[in-house]
Amino acid sequence: MSLTKEIIKEAQEGKYAFGTFDTSNLEVAQGIARAAESKKMPAMIGITESAVEYAGFLPLVNLVKGIITESRADLVLHLDHGKDPKFVKKCIDEGFESVMIDASCHEFEKNIEITKKIVAYAHKKGAIVQAELGKIPRMKSSTEEGTTLKKMEKTDPSEIEEFVEKTGVDTLAVIVGNIHGMYKPEGNPRLDLDLLKKLREKVETPFVLHGGSGTPSEDIKKAISEYGIVNVNIDTGIRVAFMGAISDFCISGQMVTDPRKILSIARNAVQEKVEEKIELFSCGR
Ligand code: G3H
Ligand code: ZN
Repeated sequence: MSLTKEIIKEAQEGKYAFGTFDTSNLEVAQGIARAAESKKMPAMIGITESAVEYAGFLPLVNLVKGIITESRADLVLHLDHGKDPKFVKKCIDEGFESVMIDASCHEFEKNIEITKKIVAYAHKKGAIVQAELGKIPRMKSSTEEGTTLKKMEKTDPSEIEEFVEKTGVDTLAVIVGNIHGMYKPEGNPRLDLDLLKKLREKVETPFVLHGGSGTPSEDIKKAISEYGIVNVNIDTGIRVAFMGAISDFCISGQMVTDPRKILSIARNAVQEKVEEKIELFSCGR
């Protein structure tokens, strides 16, 4: 059994979740790995297509692989929200143990068709696949005026069995009121736990919760301990911690010429944030 499958199985049996934490740079990836080590919990380090656009494919992939190899924690390299099937296959070829094919922008049948092909490709190479059923929106930041955001489409209980059966996915991202991003001052969205319960009753597939940064902790705990969420994804919270640390440093007026002086403070802030999330997902384990 692959490490990823073991991590998922243990989380399912233990009724806790592990985190997928996204990175596009060295310090965030190190902060994630250090947090997983200190909390003695497994984690996925997620990279996205936009992170690759920023950092380059091989530089970012090899950076994360190196950190995983040197770490004492059980860490998995994961592709988060892979939209382009060609890119998803490239990641599988490069040795990713876990990929997400996000064909949620397509209609149901097309989502199945695309996901199914990726599952066949991935399974031949020993990787596991996460898909998304429903559509998760993202909160606009102040710099995104005018951009079109996806409308939320919650996962439909009447579609989930067919989706899981026809695609053969290993894990499924369900949309139950969760939103990408942070929500102040509008307030945090609550999870539709009744819907999550209905979905849980339909299939046994391990569920993934995206948009973990702004979702209230009490909802996350229930979703994990009662309704089989085994993996929660965090991105925005890490970015906010990283940038907050840098802003605080700049505001303090200190002058440094070595970027490591500032970046190591940001790395510590990421580690703290990830530790806090790991504790939450552990549900008292
Ligand atoms: O795929 C990434 C996650 O769903 C991150 O969501 O930015 O709200 O933490 P977040
Ligand atoms: Zn997501």
